[in-house]
Amino acid sequence: MTETGHNSIGHNSAELFARAKRVFGDGTTRATIERDPIPRYITGGKGAYVTDVDGRRFLDLNGNFTTLIHGHGFEPVIEAVSRQIRSGSCFANPTRHEIALAELMVERVPGMDWIRFVNTGTEAVLFAVKAARAYTGRPAIAKIEGAYHGAYDWAEVSQASGPTTWGDPLAPSAVGNYRGMPASVLHEVVPLRFNDVEGCRRLLEKNAHRLAALIIDPVPSRAGLITPDPEFVETINATARKLGIVLIADEVLNFRQGYEGASARHGFRPDLFTFGKIIGGGLPIGAIGGSKEVMSVFGTGEQRAPLPAGGTFSANPLSMVAGLASMTALGQAAFEHLGSLGDRLRSRLREEIARRDAPFSVTGVASLFRIHPKRQAPKEFRDTALSGAQSATMTALTRAFAASGVILPNGAAACLSTPMTDNDIHLVGDVFAEFLSTHSHVFESHTA
Ligand SMILES: Cc1ncc(COP(=O)(O)O)c(C=O)c1O
Repeated sequence: MTETGHNSIGHNSAELFARAKRVFGDGTTRATIERDPIPRYITGGKGAYVTDVDGRRFLDLNGNFTTLIHGHGFEPVIEAVSRQIRSGSCFANPTRHEIALAELMVERVPGMDWIRFVNTGTEAVLFAVKAARAYTGRPAIAKIEGAYHGAYDWAEVSQASGPTTWGDPLAPSAVGNYRGMPASVLHEVVPLRFNDVEGCRRLLEKNAHRLAALIIDPVPSRAGLITPDPEFVETINATARKLGIVLIADEVLNFRQGYEGASARHGFRPDLFTFGKIIGGGLPIGAIGGSKEVMSVFGTGEQRAPLPAGGTFSANPLSMVAGLASMTALGQAAFEHLGSLGDRLRSRLREEIARRDAPFSVTGVASLFRIHPKRQAPKEFRDTALSGAQSATMTALTRAFAASGVILPNGAAACLSTPMTDNDIHLVGDVFAEFLSTHSHVFESHTA
């Protein structure tokens, strides 16, 4: 269908949303799309800014959920994709581009010998969990309560548990993520609490006979964007190794923390890694990497692989060239720039909080930050639960940012991108300061 006749209806976000609701049920095709009360329809973006169909311009702190590390319309990606699409978008054969991106990744990530490409982070997690099962012959996994790893059933367990469902802190309940989730899935997942050294050791030891893997996001964003304590990292490394549990580092989001990724930065020593988001330069991608020993389950070319893994669009050359262009431009200097922007922004936000003794805290590292409506920065997911008043504060905060021309994701990970400058950091700091000055009536009733 073309944009003619009745399909041209929809010049602003409200009209487009009304039209969308006729075909999408809830109005969009992603549960994660923000709406307050309607989504913002985008016409385009350049650098750190996007423009919507209503003619507004915003500093984008979402970057398609942390994907666009170089912002929008990054020229090297545009050139690489334009060149490639003239030669073909996908083939039932390999291309040299997948080798080049694989070489870049293997060269950067310590402890990673081999890699395979897929199309999303969800798929990367799915294959990493299956690889751990194929390697160990065990069915179950352990994961961190509240951590998001995409839409594979086992990885979804306890992703959105809360005070009424999460149960005993010494033995967290496995909580389903959708109605009808098979009960067998819940029996095959052991939820752990982030930074809980003794609890993790105990639960891993108790369940070792059935655990194929422990999947861990080094700085789980949805669980609070909390950094791991060094003792926690060492316990996870040592316990997984001792018990023969495959340690999977989910770096789909956090690979953006540095040249070698987040595990290297925080000291995790995984057997397997999952990647996505930034490594595709804005096109769909996912990847599973790891030691030769565990990755051998995908096959070594000699006989039928213990875990065959295909995929119609996996390693498609458009994603490969876009990823290569984006990652090549992401050298040490780019990471230093992002890290210094992040440090300055987190300091500025903390200064504004301290100046007013406001009930907020800030977590995050490198190009990632998160604002919490709590005086004490959370150490684990359970500390992030919000009261009704605190939720209302976060809604007011996101609205105030939007009204000042800044997209701040709803309580999720917010991120910076390489085209950002000091001016953008000042803008975010100023908007937050203004919010704290004008909205104290909204948050002064908080108790925490
Ligand atoms: C840590 C982590 N793992 C997995 C995923 C799933 O990736 P995708 O949305 O590409 O399926 C995400 C997405 O946000 C993520 O943050």
